[in-house]
Amino acid sequence: MLSGKRIILGVTGGIAAYKAVQLLRDFQKAGAEVRVIMTPDATRFVGSDTFAALSRNDVPIHIFPENHSGSSETWVKHIQWAEWADLMLIAPCTANTLAKIVHGFSDNMLTAAVLAARCPVYICPTMDGEMYHAPSTKRNLQLAEDMNFRIIPPESGYLASGLNDTGRLPDADTIFSHLFPNQSSLPLANKKVLITTGPTREFIDPVRFISNPSSGKMGIAMAKAAKALGADVILLHGPITEKIPHDVTALPFESADDLFALVQKHGPNCDVAIMAAAVADYKPQEKALSKIKKGDAEKTLFFTRTPDSLQWLGENKKAKQILIGFAMETDNLEEHAREKIGRKKLDWVVGNTLNAQDSGFQHDTNRVLLLSSKDEKFSFEGLKTEVAKKVLETIFQA
Ligand code: CTP
Repeated sequence: MLSGKRIILGVTGGIAAYKAVQLLRDFQKAGAEVRVIMTPDATRFVGSDTFAALSRNDVPIHIFPENHSGSSETWVKHIQWAEWADLMLIAPCTANTLAKIVHGFSDNMLTAAVLAARCPVYICPTMDGEMYHAPSTKRNLQLAEDMNFRIIPPESGYLASGLNDTGRLPDADTIFSHLFPNQSSLPLANKKVLITTGPTREFIDPVRFISNPSSGKMGIAMAKAAKALGADVILLHGPITEKIPHDVTALPFESADDLFALVQKHGPNCDVAIMAAAVADYKPQEKALSKIKKGDAEKTLFFTRTPDSLQWLGENKKAKQILIGFAMETDNLEEHAREKIGRKKLDWVVGNTLNAQDSGFQHDTNRVLLLSSKDEKFSFEGLKTEVAKKVLETIFQA
């Protein structure tokens, strides 16, 4: 399936370097031609001869090797190899190499090749949890995204330090799904997934609007989880400051009417819709064209209903389409969430409550109740990224 693809696998000095050996084999089995570049520290974990034998090629490490004969061949290798590659993958990528890359260092063959690359460069940040959560790593990952490096997020689990945290190298299937989303055997490969996230704004006059505190974090977490399962994602997002993943088609909306127009356009073609946006149910009957000036008298505003995008998708549901709604409640979570399954013709609803400190609007964490139209019931809690992953893995039995 990767026949003719030319891949540079960059391996850096983390314990997961041994997993890169299998990754190389998996790429080759799928038909790709792979060349490996190691950082000097990576050779402490796996011998460069292993990669050389398996890739049937040199494994450059230094730009100026010790026995460098002065030939031009060695020192232009980073340029030649970077031109040769269709894509570069750095797996594992340590915090150190990540920091070097985003600051333009080129002190070894791998960082120099990254600097010279014209092809997409994928990075698998892999490190201990504390290092992954460190402000400098977070900032460097943000910089990497801004520079169009493609980040394949690490997984949570048992780490080499003995701690249970985020920082593990994902398995080959997950990495493949990020690199070649349409060619994998993942459950959402070749599936179009429409996701809505963030708040709406209903303007009263040019300077005031009605909205809610939705940050868009849960929908973005859903987008990342859907990508990891191989999906093509269209992300419809309200006004949010959260970073939008580079590998989705992102379309902005402001009001519930804008959202409805986008859903009518893109909804009918999607295989799955995940509606996480916090949509205003009412809008001011009239929007004043000029700023409303204050007076001494009390003021009354009249509201009309907005279109319900999810309700519309339910009423126009295509065969085999899967509709996943959200329910944000303050009380009787299960009852209200279940009622939405029937009313909006949903397959699944993700209920969350505003009553717990670590869930709901703005938080990085959430506690959700996942209910199906077939009366299945699950609950998940943790980081929104983890919760989103569990929700989609449960629904699509990944
Ligand atoms: N939704 C939507 N368009 C709307 C309102 C809601 O697409 N105009 C979607 C939300 O994105 C969510 C689901 O419908 O997936 C439920 O939204 P919610 O506001 O909780 O429910 P409502 O149907 O509006 O009912 P109520 O506000 O009475 O709880």
